[in-house]
Amino acid sequence: MPARKTGYYCSACGHFTPRWLGRCAGCGAWNTYVEEAALPAGHARRVTGTGDPPLPVTEVSPVDGQRLSTGMAELDRVLGGGVVPGSLVLLGGDPGIGKSTLLLQVAGAVGSAGNRVLYVSGEESTRQIKLRADRLGTCCRELYLYAETSLEAVEEQVASINPELLVVDSIQTMFGAEIASAPGSVGQVRECTTRLMRLAKERSICVFVVGHVTKEGMIAGPRVMEHMVDVVLYFEGERHQSLRVLRSVKNRFGSTNEIGVFEMSGSGLREVANPSSFFLADHGRRDVAGSVVVPVLEGTRPLLVEIQALVCPTSFGVPRRMTAGVDYNRTALIMAVLEKRLGLMLGNCDAYVNVVGGVRIVEPAADLGIALALASSFRDRVVEGRTAVVGELGLTGEIRPVTAVEKRIREAAQLGFARCVVPRQKDVPAEAGLETVQVATLAEAFSLLFS
Ligand SMILES: Nc1ncnc2c1ncn2[C@@H]1O[C@H](COP(=O)(O)OP(=O)(O)O)[C@@H](O)[C@H]1O
Ligand SMILES: [Mg+2]
Repeated sequence: MPARKTGYYCSACGHFTPRWLGRCAGCGAWNTYVEEAALPAGHARRVTGTGDPPLPVTEVSPVDGQRLSTGMAELDRVLGGGVVPGSLVLLGGDPGIGKSTLLLQVAGAVGSAGNRVLYVSGEESTRQIKLRADRLGTCCRELYLYAETSLEAVEEQVASINPELLVVDSIQTMFGAEIASAPGSVGQVRECTTRLMRLAKERSICVFVVGHVTKEGMIAGPRVMEHMVDVVLYFEGERHQSLRVLRSVKNRFGSTNEIGVFEMSGSGLREVANPSSFFLADHGRRDVAGSVVVPVLEGTRPLLVEIQALVCPTSFGVPRRMTAGVDYNRTALIMAVLEKRLGLMLGNCDAYVNVVGGVRIVEPAADLGIALALASSFRDRVVEGRTAVVGELGLTGEIRPVTAVEKRIREAAQLGFARCVVPRQKDVPAEAGLETVQVATLAEAFSLLFS
């Protein structure tokens, strides 16, 4: 690869320009130039290397050092059992979702356990952070606060304080003197990430870095750092609801299909150990049409969620369809199947589907739940008798098997459900106190629940 010159490269076609342009002179695309800075001669770019010669795999010692517990069981589980020393964890999320809160709580817990923590903030003054720490009750002697945006200064302080955990909030406010562009630009974000990564490896400390998801999404947000760091976590949730879900999308030291569930409160984030009961808080006390409970799988963990649908005649014009928490196109497909296979005339009805509690379901195993919620609302018939349903819907109206059906059934039984409608498949276990009904088609499920 030829040496990259200092200037701007088009991210679409690679065209080079020494000055930033709004439109690419090569391919005509808008807003695609990304800054590149040439590195000073002799600048070593060793990030993970130790200088050791190649070794046979049998002679390499596995992860050295114990994982560090963050003091929050939910977060530890998402990380794969704590933070690995020498790793860099990126915590992404929308502004205001609670990233600083989470990391300050972690910093406090790690500090209380006797490990030294340096909490660097480029966004808030130390007094502001102190106020928050008081509110969260996370003040301790081993927690050092530092309001700084210069990466060189941070590196110096890390060398003198020698912390076990470093928190940088946020990467978009940090700048390294080697690169001329402003903090938050792609060049700076990349440079700062690389240097923090090196800091983590060289000193074998855990580093948490906050990355705001910017309006443009891709540009200078967590996305440009994802490939560099060891672990990428996203903190999600609806701003006006208290539920927060922590997802891992990349983990070099663990699996990526665990989620952590938290609740935002005045005194900080609280772990929700049993999310199903949280989502179903008031379910069962009402018997209303259009509500169905589905045991979905979040990672390896079953979760009971309530799907609500509202179907009503269109008063004028084109029918409106709206979904929150489930895929729009998937819902359209399910409505087509309902129309064709069950003869439900949804064509001139408005339809709204919502998942209670702000959860997002991506699993096709929720298909049957969505279909029955829609049918229930359309027919104005209640799904009775504490029933949960699960199954993937095919285009011919067949119900397909789902994974980990035993976990889903067990979760439903534990939460006091009396009946669970499942696909016709082999590994359906018998659970005490819960009747399982196996169905092969949508029509069968429909007549079972509504006739
Ligand atoms: N005094 C308070 N009482 C209760 N909740 C608060 C208080 N101050 C802030 N919050 C909550 O904390 C959130 C901000 O979290 P923060 O960690 O600063 O977000 P981020 O770092 O992701 O931008 C707010 O959206 C609000 O819900
Ligand atoms: Mg913040």
